[in-house]
Amino acid sequence: RLPRPFTSPFAVPPVLKPQTVGNTDYYRMTMTNAPVRVLPGFPKTEIWGYNGITPGPTIIQERGRETVVRQINAIRSPDHLHTSVHLHGNATKPQYDGYANDVTKPGWGKDYRYPNGQPARTLWYHDHGVHVTSENAYRGLAGLYITHDEHERGLGLPKGYHDPVARTGYDVPLVIRDAVFATNGSLIFDREEQGSLFGDVILVNGVPWPVMKVERRKYRFRVLNASISRSYKLALSSGDPMTVIGSDGGLMPHPVRTGSVRVGMAERYEIVIDFARYKVGTSIVLRNGDLPNNREEKNTNVVMRFDVVSDATDTSGNRVPWNLGKVGDGDYDPMPLLPSQSTHTERFVFERKNGNWVINDGTWKDIEDSGNQLNAAVCKKDEIEIWEFQNKSGGWFHPIHVHLIDFKILSRTGGKSPGVLPYERGPKDTAYVGENETVRVLAKFGPHQGRYMMHCHNLTHEDHDMMTQFQVGTGGE
Ligand code: C2O
Ligand code: CU
Repeated sequence: RLPRPFTSPFAVPPVLKPQTVGNTDYYRMTMTNAPVRVLPGFPKTEIWGYNGITPGPTIIQERGRETVVRQINAIRSPDHLHTSVHLHGNATKPQYDGYANDVTKPGWGKDYRYPNGQPARTLWYHDHGVHVTSENAYRGLAGLYITHDEHERGLGLPKGYHDPVARTGYDVPLVIRDAVFATNGSLIFDREEQGSLFGDVILVNGVPWPVMKVERRKYRFRVLNASISRSYKLALSSGDPMTVIGSDGGLMPHPVRTGSVRVGMAERYEIVIDFARYKVGTSIVLRNGDLPNNREEKNTNVVMRFDVVSDATDTSGNRVPWNLGKVGDGDYDPMPLLPSQSTHTERFVFERKNGNWVINDGTWKDIEDSGNQLNAAVCKKDEIEIWEFQNKSGGWFHPIHVHLIDFKILSRTGGKSPGVLPYERGPKDTAYVGENETVRVLAKFGPHQGRYMMHCHNLTHEDHDMMTQFQVGTGGE
């Protein structure tokens, strides 16, 4: 019998401390198997985690400071699964980008370098090992990486990484995913599954349907959908709106008030909820509404609960200014690209063909067969292009992720398209491409050169084999 929702206390991943030398912060993580109490009343679950926990430890970095993360693969598995670590949302040089075939064998490690040149944002690191990404991520290899900058700090947004025990800090990670467990507590993962992997337990930061104690004030939630195949439509049981202030690539031009937020796999939204309007003693449930292409289970319609326990103990950082851009900048746009600057439109069709998920009829296997030389697209460094993603696969949606760049969503047409949602008007790196829809995005391909991946972030699709690559410029970095 599965636990009932709202019986476990809220938790957040711990923050990892670096060793600092000059302008560089050095971190070290070891990927290990670990027994973890996930479901109350069940035996422990063996997870695979960065430092033995899932989500892995959170890295918090300042823009402009360089990071080196030493990742050691100490996973024990009868299949000797290889790993590759990708920092999703970071403009990383290709050799550190977690390229699927750049694998680290068990017992080996690799140093990943991240320049952190981009504006403050919510990133995440996760496994990207070729053909084993879904299993590695499902068993726990994913964690958050947050960057801050001067500008963001000046806005007066809710701040301080939340500590649920001391009840301090109002900047709160919400890593949401589903999972399915056997009665002996182990995670069930079907290697043959090619369609989708749906669980009947919703985990937030590794805890099933937790209860978070909140004060009567604003909180900034960094929502990441780390599920393999499940998307979410988040809404408050009170019916009150939430305020979206950021998307995958950082702050929106302006806050967007909305009754619900759709979050496909790998998408991030930063959402401010103001609990000041509720009396102490009120409980508000974060609900999950129906979306197409999901499989609903008994309790997948709820995510977590907020219990309002006191007045604000700290009233600093309790605002959301209208202009999230630089003060005095007027209508600041974090993605100042215009479609008229595009020199080329590249089209990609996502389909199911001959027992594979394909992009323009190709698979990642085709790329491997070419000695990893084949490119689905080639662009000059800093070239601005429109990329068009067309979903022709029938009853599926595909969240399409392009490495290296942030893009701006220009349009969404076809199918039952809702158009571009108001909260999708910030910088993005993953686009929800619904059934029969076509989504057009605009991006500048830089600042690095080299070979980068793009793929569906339904990880069972990615592994079987909806992934391709493109080349930026001529060099390797
Ligand atoms: Cu989130 Cu190619 O990955
Ligand atoms: Cu897909």
